[in-house]
Amino acid sequence: MKIALIHGHIRKGSTYNISHMLIDKIYGATELSEIFIPKFIKNGCIGCYSCIEDETGCQFYTEKAEIMKVIEDADLLLFTTPTYCMGPSSQMKQFMDLTFTYWMSHKPRANMFHKRAVVISTCAGAGSNKAIEPIARMLFYWGVPAVYRYGLAVQAMSWDGVSDKKKDKIEKDMAKLARKVSTNKSPRVGFKTRFMFNMMRMIQNAHMGSGEKERKYWEDMGWLGKDRPWKKK
Ligand SMILES: Cc1cc2nc3c(=O)[nH]c(=O)nc-3n(C[C@H](O)[C@H](O)[C@H](O)COP(=O)(O)O)c2cc1C
Repeated sequence: MKIALIHGHIRKGSTYNISHMLIDKIYGATELSEIFIPKFIKNGCIGCYSCIEDETGCQFYTEKAEIMKVIEDADLLLFTTPTYCMGPSSQMKQFMDLTFTYWMSHKPRANMFHKRAVVISTCAGAGSNKAIEPIARMLFYWGVPAVYRYGLAVQAMSWDGVSDKKKDKIEKDMAKLARKVSTNKSPRVGFKTRFMFNMMRMIQNAHMGSGEKERKYWEDMGWLGKDRPWKKK
């Protein structure tokens, strides 16, 4: 099983350590690719919409293409972010904006419908669920059918500051989570994903999407006919 570990921050703090604890417990993990978003992405989306016509037209295309290659090649996606002001890190948000053409409303990638994902965030006291929410939402709109969330108030500013009792609890939680994601089988694509995909399909069929190039993508993928991304691997 190939794992892509995508960090929304450069800091090797509690969130980073928890993600590695999980990976150590995953059975059958054959390959790990680790990406620190801030090493690649230094700027946010400028709203030029070039990507709608041609994704290579984005001025940050090269940097994001490197990250997206790792993501597309993986079976399991692991996203981490510390909780900052009850949201994800600003670098994670920049990444999310720069990859919006991957959403089902634009040009979803067929391989996403076969992946699992885990989103991890720690906060000091409150807000980790709010930091996880936008990332989990993005993954849903990318088409990823199984997204697990792990948010925790660690009551600390660093991993060293986390109590042993809390670390024991995290260890147990990660063992449980590892059992859920230690599989090479494609996850079941649920009603919500199918429904959203079909809504987007109707929009593209009616020429009401973001343009004819986008519609042609759907047509070439066979999705305006009978093909569906979750049917073929
Ligand atoms: C800019 C900034 C904003 C933060 N915002 C919150 C917050 O909204 N809620 C909270 O409980 N902790 C907040 N914290 C604390 C961190 O979320 C917490 O220490 C977290 O465990 C850090 O993760 P890390 O060790 O992986 O870097 C904030 C810290 C910083 C530096």
